[in-house]
Amino acid sequence: MRPEEQPLSPSLPWRTSSSITMAFVGLLSRGFLYGLSRTETNGLDGFLKLLDQRKDVKGRERGLITVSNHVSVMDDPIIWGILPFRYLISPENMRWSLGSYDICFHNKALSAFFTFGQVLPTHRSLYSKFGGLFQPTITQAVRLLSRGPFIHANDAPEKPNSSLSSPDVSDPFSSDNFTFSTNGSDTFPAPSAYLNRRHSWVHIFPEGKIHQKEDRTMRYFKWGVSRLILESDPCPDIVPIWIEGPEQVMHEARAFPRFIPRPFKKISITFGEKLDVEKVFGDLRDRWKRLHARESEKVMGGKLNVGILTHALKYAEEAVELRKECTMRVREAVLNIRRQRGLPDEDPKVGLVETYREEGGKVEGKMDDGSWVKDT
Ligand SMILES: *[C@@H]1O[C@H](CO)[C@@H](O)[C@H](O)[C@H]1NC(C)=O
Ligand SMILES: *[C@@H]1O[C@H](CO)[C@@H](O)[C@H](O)[C@H]1NC(C)=O
Ligand SMILES: *[C@@H]1O[C@H](CO)[C@@H](O)[C@H](O)[C@H]1NC(C)=O
Repeated sequence: MRPEEQPLSPSLPWRTSSSITMAFVGLLSRGFLYGLSRTETNGLDGFLKLLDQRKDVKGRERGLITVSNHVSVMDDPIIWGILPFRYLISPENMRWSLGSYDICFHNKALSAFFTFGQVLPTHRSLYSKFGGLFQPTITQAVRLLSRGPFIHANDAPEKPNSSLSSPDVSDPFSSDNFTFSTNGSDTFPAPSAYLNRRHSWVHIFPEGKIHQKEDRTMRYFKWGVSRLILESDPCPDIVPIWIEGPEQVMHEARAFPRFIPRPFKKISITFGEKLDVEKVFGDLRDRWKRLHARESEKVMGGKLNVGILTHALKYAEEAVELRKECTMRVREAVLNIRRQRGLPDEDPKVGLVETYREEGGKVEGKMDDGSWVKDT
């Protein structure tokens, strides 16, 4: 399909359902933050200015990643209630988020609700063999951030080098041009197939789990965020955010009725300035680009589409090293905002994956170090 034939946006009923869902949830969140809580924001004006610049989809030149700590099951959507109404009713300029497949997409009704709410179905390795860094949903997120649209017809990679025993590269978006599958048999609308999702905004909680701890430290970051930063084309804007308070609204130790958010708590959302991505990630992106060119030349004659990786691009030492370093730098950017809030520096060990191997096999609940963890 030629670019000019590509649909601008999903069908009208789809867009209407999505707008209503987003507005409804946004208004509830806003009502909760400003009616039932004591909410303060820092740096919001700068962030709204950035959103204003992104309002016209056709004029957008890059995607937007927001990245934050994760302190409660309600972080998303509650925190977006700080956005004034006119933002909440413009889904094209609102965030896409990653939600747990086994919770948010548990049945058809939930699945529709979260799909209309711009949440992408994400498998967690602990619960699903389809989880991990290379699942199709991460590819969708990379493409949402990039210069779309991406449809299957444009996208089918050529046959991999036949000397490889199993296909090195597979494009998961093959059942239909506008859908993708997370496990080979389900189907979801592929958000990146539409022009009106070009250079979208994706929010990510790289801790991947809720972490509630007295001293407000974060867990280590998972590497998915580094794929978004290294592979999106061009490099998105990146805004770090620090959240405090929702852990009181939905404390993991709360008693009955657990599903009711607790009112009258103090909530604070702090936006960092957008990062100088060239300065912070430029060298890593350059190295990634060279590696990518080299590897795609080997296997695909140089034609490897955004978000599709060869075996080497997944597992080669340099690829792994780049993801590790990139993830560390983005965590550091969030720590800077934490510091601005007057919190003392963390013990460097809390940022390392090794620290959490000592959780004694526990997955959720109260950990030996006194933190509360919820796996969502
Ligand atoms: C879907 O993609 C195929 C090629 O893979 C193409 O022939 C077909 O025209 C496309 N259909 C639509 C509806 O875009
Ligand atoms: C296929 O890959 C192997 C090693 O990965 C290489 O030696 C060979 O030349 C490649 N063949 C083609 C046709 O590209
Ligand atoms: C994929 O997910 C769907 C919906 O959850 C499920 O019915 C199906 O069995 C899954 N397929 C595989 C291969 O696990």
